[in-house]
Amino acid sequence: MKKTIITMFALTAFAGTAFAADIIELPASMGKVAFPHKKHQEMLKDCKKCHEKGPGKIAELGKDWAHKTCKGCHTEMKKGPTSCKDCHKK
Ligand code: HEC
Ligand code: HEC
Ligand code: HEC
Repeated sequence: MKKTIITMFALTAFAGTAFAADIIELPASMGKVAFPHKKHQEMLKDCKKCHEKGPGKIAELGKDWAHKTCKGCHTEMKKGPTSCKDCHKK
């Protein structure tokens, strides 16, 4: 019983700090970008591809960072959207 409570507490604590939504909506005037975070986590494994300073909010997030990081990788890997309207949807 004690063990269960501890586990539940750990899960709740984890949910508050370390879980991100499966799909993160990134707002932009061009049209918001629905970013499939979980899919990228599972596919790329390496968090550092995007989280240089560790998981959590990305301070640099914005046009320059996103186009370099997101579009850059898609171009390099020849996989994933590279045209404006494939990322920026209404
Ligand atoms: C392809 C890029 C990419 C990869 C790979 C990635 N993330 Fe993220 N992650 C993001 C973006 C973008 C955000 C949104 C950041 C923001 O809103 O400042 C985010 C947000 C998060 C957040 C939520 C921050 C918050 O409070 O809303 C956590 C936690 C997180 N990521 C953990 C991870 C972990 C752990 C991994 C590796 C298993 C990982 N991420 C891999 C891009 C990525
Ligand atoms: C791989 C996905 C992707 C592609 C392709 C892409 N963008 Fe973006 N763009 C983003 C993301 C993500 C952001 C940052 C959103 C944020 O800061 O939350 C962004 C930000 C922007 C912004 C600044 C946000 C604002 O509110 O003004 C503009 C303008 C923009 N993009 C235009 C374009 C144009 C034009 C193209 C095509 C030449 C393009 N984007 C292609 C993902 C993409
Ligand atoms: C290090 C490489 C890498 C980075 C960084 C990366 N992606 Fe991707 N992304 C991929 C690959 C590879 C695919 C293709 C997945 C597939 O076809 O199954 C993809 C697919 C996608 C898709 C289409 C998903 C689908 O289900 O068809 C979107 C949308 C996307 N990425 C947005 C983003 C955004 C926004 C960012 C930045 C916050 C980003 N990606 C950063 C590698 C990356």
